[in-house]
Amino acid sequence: MNAIVIYRSKTGFTKRYAEWIAAALGCEALDWKDAQGKQLSGYDTLIYGGWFHAGSVMGLKKFLQVAEPLKKNLVVFATGASPAENPDNEAAMKKNFTTEQWGRIKAFYLPGGLNYEQMGAVNKAMMAAFRVMVKKQEGESSQMYQMLCKSYDLAEEKYIQPLVEHCNRL
Ligand SMILES: Cc1cc2nc3c(=O)[nH]c(=O)nc-3n(C[C@H](O)[C@H](O)[C@H](O)COP(=O)(O)O)c2cc1C
Repeated sequence: MNAIVIYRSKTGFTKRYAEWIAAALGCEALDWKDAQGKQLSGYDTLIYGGWFHAGSVMGLKKFLQVAEPLKKNLVVFATGASPAENPDNEAAMKKNFTTEQWGRIKAFYLPGGLNYEQMGAVNKAMMAAFRVMVKKQEGESSQMYQMLCKSYDLAEEKYIQPLVEHCNRL
């Protein structure tokens, strides 16, 4: 299989997964910025990784605009703050695709975490507003609120396994 992993990452979780996936598949992982001008038509499989930002997978729409006309195998992964076992992960992912795309493009949720140290000011402010909302709705002692108050890291290499197995079957 001749694949490439293209990713967008702000605080490092998606980058880490992209590098694990690329190492497992023996291919290259490229930041979206460095992939501009790269000849993607030379690959059989294009793997895109982005991070959830208020429900949207960062950069996915743009990636699909470029990648879909190439008629390659497309695989998507997205990292977020929620744990792997959250039953809402699939529905959140599905919202980022049309019904037709969802039937054709395999997408995987990979748990990231929160890294306030690497977050920019705008994203920090958005998270602060989200925390205020969660505190109001669920209370200060709720698990959700407590989780949002500090950095945490849920990323583990084992989570890439289903994606890697899927790619190896293509
Ligand atoms: C402003 C903002 C909005 C976010 N929205 C979501 C979200 O809707 N769902 C989710 O699971 N995680 C959300 N997150 C958490 C990030 O998706 C998570 O930290 C991700 O792993 C970051 O990836 P990166 O380290 O590659 O930048 C949000 C984070 C920020 C800063």
